[in-house]
Formats: sequence, structure tokens, C-alpha cells
Amino acid sequence: MSLVKLPSRSRGSASILVLTILILALLGVAALMARAPSAPRAADPDVAAEQTATAIAPVARVEMAKAAVDTGPKTGEQIVTAICGACHGTGAAGAPKIGDKAAWAPRLALGLDGLVKSATAGKNAMPPKGGNPNLSSLDLARAIVFMANKSGASFKEPAEKK
Ligand code: HEC
Repeated sequence: MSLVKLPSRSRGSASILVLTILILALLGVAALMARAPSAPRAADPDVAAEQTATAIAPVARVEMAKAAVDTGPKTGEQIVTAICGACHGTGAAGAPKIGDKAAWAPRLALGLDGLVKSATAGKNAMPPKGGNPNLSSLDLARAIVFMANKSGASFKEPAEKK
């Protein structure tokens, strides 16, 4: 009350009432303004990223499910492309090149089982399982069949074991 100089008591109460209403109104506006920045949520980069993540989540989940399925048996060609081709595609490190019948002929004499054994154990610069220890013997055999059959062999692809 000492803040405002007022001529009489009654007018003073009225002024205080008006002042109180004014202050409450200002507080209301201030409260609204304080909340305003959070209103356009998409403008916030974090919120935008979150919204994008939510929007693509179903697609991402499908992609992950597909990737999980892809870790199963692969064709020989897929394995050769992914692993063996690094050496056998070019003949790097002295690897018998895919399609080089002369280089493969003495090896094919081992038969498919012999080649699978040899490739599983590794041989000189050829790392065990081509450097991929997680490769199943079935997948390794398929990869060998794929490479060998492009290099003069006519191996039958081993069937999936059940
Ligand atoms: C780091 C290079 C490299 C990679 C990767 C590689 N190989 Fe080889 N591989 C070789 C080399 C070098 C030889 C020849 C070894 C020798 O006879 O001295 C060879 C030989 C072989 C042979 C013949 C073995 C024998 O007894 O004559 C087979 C079969 C073979 N690799 C299969 C594979 C398969 C299947 C893969 C993929 C899963 C693979 N290799 C990946 C380097 C590689």
C-alpha cells in the first residue's frame, strides 16, 4: 500500500483491486509466453529427430528383421562375393583364381570333401574358412562349389542339413 500514493481510503481499495487484477492479467500473459516456445514442437531439432525416428520406426524394424534373416544360409555366390572373392576373384596372395582351370585342376582332384576339409583348416595364405570362423561348413561347401564349378568342376551343391 505504501507503493501507491492514494488520496483516500475507499479510492485506495478500488485502485488496489484494479492493480491486483492487472498484475494477475500480466502474470497470465507471462505464463502463456513462457509456455509459447514449446508450442511449435517440430521446430526443436531434438523433437524433430524424435518425430522422424518414430515415423521411420516401422520401416527400420522391417529392415532389421530382414538383416536377421540374412544371417541364415546364403548361396555360394553370395558368400564368394562377400568373403572369398577378395582373394579368389583376383588371385591375390596366390589364391587359385575363379575361372582359372589350370590353377584349380590339381585341387579339384581332392574332391569336394577334401576341399572343404582343406578350406576349413586353412592352407598357407588361405586362412581357415577364408578368415570367417562363423561360416558353417555347409556355407563353406556352397562357396567352394560355386568357385570350383566356375573353374572346371561340376560339383553338386550340398543339400541343407535338417
Ligand atoms: C585372404 C585370401 C583368401 C581368402 C579370403 C579366401 N581364400 Fe581360399 N585360398 C587362398 C589361397 C592363397 C589359396 C591357395 C593356398 C595354397 O594352396 O597355398 C586358397 C585356396 C583355397 C582352396 C583350395 C584348397 C586346396 O586344398 O587346394 C579352396 C577350396 C579355397 N581356397 C576356398 C575358399 C573359400 C570357400 C573362401 C571363402 C569362404 C576362401 N577360400 C577365401 C586365399 C584366400
